[in-house]
Amino acid sequence: MPTQVKSRQRVQEHGEVFTNEREVNAMLDMVKEETERIESRFLEPACGTGNFLAEVLRRKLATTNSNYRRNLDEWQHYAFLAVSSIYGVELLADNAQECRQRLLDIVLDEAPRETPERFGEAVRFLLSKNILCGDALTMLDASGSPITFCEWSFVRGERVKRRDFQLDHMLAANKQVNEQLSLMDLMTTEYDESRNELVPKTVREYPLRNWWEVGLDG
Ligand SMILES: C[S@@+](CC[C@H](N)C(=O)[O-])C[C@H]1O[C@@H](n2cnc3c(N)ncnc32)[C@H](O)[C@@H]1O
Repeated sequence: MPTQVKSRQRVQEHGEVFTNEREVNAMLDMVKEETERIESRFLEPACGTGNFLAEVLRRKLATTNSNYRRNLDEWQHYAFLAVSSIYGVELLADNAQECRQRLLDIVLDEAPRETPERFGEAVRFLLSKNILCGDALTMLDASGSPITFCEWSFVRGERVKRRDFQLDHMLAANKQVNEQLSLMDLMTTEYDESRNELVPKTVREYPLRNWWEVGLDG
């Protein structure tokens, strides 16, 4: 059974006690349909080595396998989508790296034998952007910059649109439109008339790319 504690010091300093598999599954089963939906977005703000995210990915890939295993192009498309919608923040760099590697290994283990190398490279890039080393309380990354996540959306078949958003802006957008908004809220969010809700302002947009070329933008 995997250990829940790496060291007493890490428990004391960072509250690092990992959740065991039984509890992970019991909690995820409370939102079972979402965990099995390939495109549902998950963000874990203290993800550790990825106990929850790994299980979410396994479930999404189980759906991918049962629906798209017979066509390699489709399988890659949906497996890319499954990874691209999983996000994590972790304070400790070694945990964040372990989490990225673990998620990559899960996808590569599931990939059909004939999957080209570019698929693994694209997934590795996605994970470098989606699993970030930072502080979820201050919302700053390890270099002191605002934590910024990428939204990956498929448009027109294999083309992917990347837009970057700051985590603090996303949280500001959780406010109701009729709530009192601070000057900062007004600067970081905008009103989406069609949805009658606040949405975070995009920090940066990128050109459309084929999914296997997303790494070109760095
Ligand atoms: C209780 S462990 C849980 C890890 C994982 N979610 C799990 O259930 O196995 C908490 C994790 O949060 C990390 N952590 C502590 N403070 C944090 C912060 N301010 N921002 C991001 N991660 C933090 C710790 O390093 C640790 O890996």
